[in-house]
Amino acid sequence: MKREIDTLIRETFGRLTQVDSASALEKLHIEVLGRKGALAGLFKKLGSRPESERPALGKALNEARVQLESALEEARVRTVSVPSVASTIDITLPGRTPNLGHLHPITQVGMEITEVFRGLGFEVVEGPDVELDYYNFEALNIPKDHPARDMQDTFYITDNIVLRTHTSPIQVRVMEKQKPPVRIIAPGKAYRCDSDMTHTPMFHQVEGLMVDKDVRFADLKGILTIFVRQMFGSDVDLRFRPSFFPFTEPSAEVDMKCVMCMGEGCRVCSETGWLEILGSGMVDPEVFKMVGYDPEEVTGFAFGMGIERIAMLKYGINDLRLFFDNDLRFLEQF
Ligand code: DAH
Repeated sequence: MKREIDTLIRETFGRLTQVDSASALEKLHIEVLGRKGALAGLFKKLGSRPESERPALGKALNEARVQLESALEEARVRTVSVPSVASTIDITLPGRTPNLGHLHPITQVGMEITEVFRGLGFEVVEGPDVELDYYNFEALNIPKDHPARDMQDTFYITDNIVLRTHTSPIQVRVMEKQKPPVRIIAPGKAYRCDSDMTHTPMFHQVEGLMVDKDVRFADLKGILTIFVRQMFGSDVDLRFRPSFFPFTEPSAEVDMKCVMCMGEGCRVCSETGWLEILGSGMVDPEVFKMVGYDPEEVTGFAFGMGIERIAMLKYGINDLRLFFDNDLRFLEQF
């Protein structure tokens, strides 16, 4: 009988290698392990064996059952579940990842800019988008009839309240509250009634201000050079062009060496080799008087830059409106 058990195991293992379908496996299972199958037949024969042999034979039969059951189960997994799943699902396809949102490129670049200045000891502050005429204009040395107001395309809410046309009013709000020294950076939205390839009614700026004893134009140049080199690369040079802003004297517009052609001249820089990136200057004594600082005691510099402009130069984007269309094909590239 021991031989019969061994034969059953060997034969079943042999037949298992031939099984290629669920139904063939089912048939084999019934023939071997079914209620009237081969193994059950051997169990039945146990009663006719001499009593002394029964324990050993019983043990061998039980072991055979375990062995056969697990071999058949293994074959079932192989022939039944895997092929049938594989025929409906391609398990080699990559899984579907849920869509994760991320920060808007303007937010990212704004944070990058403030991070550089934070590293230089500037504190980040904010101010209101809906602003008093006084802070947006008067206190920045732009009185009611000043021609500079025409350039600003202001959205008026009432005669005295405007949507801020730049982030410069934050300078005044900070200086009103705080005694020198001051070293702040102020990112935020600005609004002007203007819309074309290079202007949107809402855009973003970062304002900077540093006031202390003996702050000089050289400090402005140094800080801005460090900033531009951290944003665009260590070999980028700056150029300061004389300009005019009512709230700074002297004033300068700052250009950086064109990052597209490295100063050779290309379409992006209109063949000049330079790109304008911000306005700046030494804080006008009139502004200091307005906030109660003594211009004989302290000096300072200020600057303001457009975040969209910095982002366009950094990523080689040629149409400002892309930032506001919210087309995912564009946004997902950042
Ligand atoms: N507020 C100016 C603008 O919106 C930019 C600017 C220029 C800011 C010179 C400054 C500055 O702080 O000193 O065009």
